Amino acid sequence: MSAEDKVEVTMTSLLSSLSLATSPSTSPPPSSYFIGRKEEILQARRVEKFVNGRDVLVLHHEGVLHAMDKRCYHKGGLLQGGDIEEFDGRLCIVCPWHKFKITLAEGEGLYQVLDRAQKPPKHKWLSKGVKQRVHTVIEVDEDVFVRFNSMPGSIDSDQYQTNEYRATLETGEKTKK
Ligand code: FES
Repeated sequence: MSAEDKVEVTMTSLLSSLSLATSPSTSPPPSSYFIGRKEEILQARRVEKFVNGRDVLVLHHEGVLHAMDKRCYHKGGLLQGGDIEEFDGRLCIVCPWHKFKITLAEGEGLYQVLDRAQKPPKHKWLSKGVKQRVHTVIEVDEDVFVRFNSMPGSIDSDQYQTNEYRATLETGEKTKK
């Protein structure tokens, strides 16, 4: 076997193991999409994946997996690098771009007000309503899937899930180059 053949065999084995590592070992539950092996996601802590026309972020926090649209409802910031913090007992991802707070469980945008009814006045967090589409994480054996949130009507983060928006990004990236 020539050196070139050896390289090709090695590459083929590598690609085959990579594709095995990204294929489900179980059948997907109905209307769900495979994200990855649980062990790989726990190691990575956060995984972005394009599945069935949607860009989703799956993240692991304190033993729980959460899923949501990967771009922030405000201006499309990438949530992958956002910190997880608690506001009035609600776990949120804090968008790295302008620090908007989004609840992990419901996708609600939170904002802070000064409650003057309290003596002395205290700050508290209120909801703007659901702004970010969050998705259901399903674990089957060691595989992780998401089922899209089917809340009817438009949710703010939907605007960054269109082909038109992706085309805009590509154009912007090409322009930068
Ligand atoms: S883009 Fe997320 S806070 Fe502005």
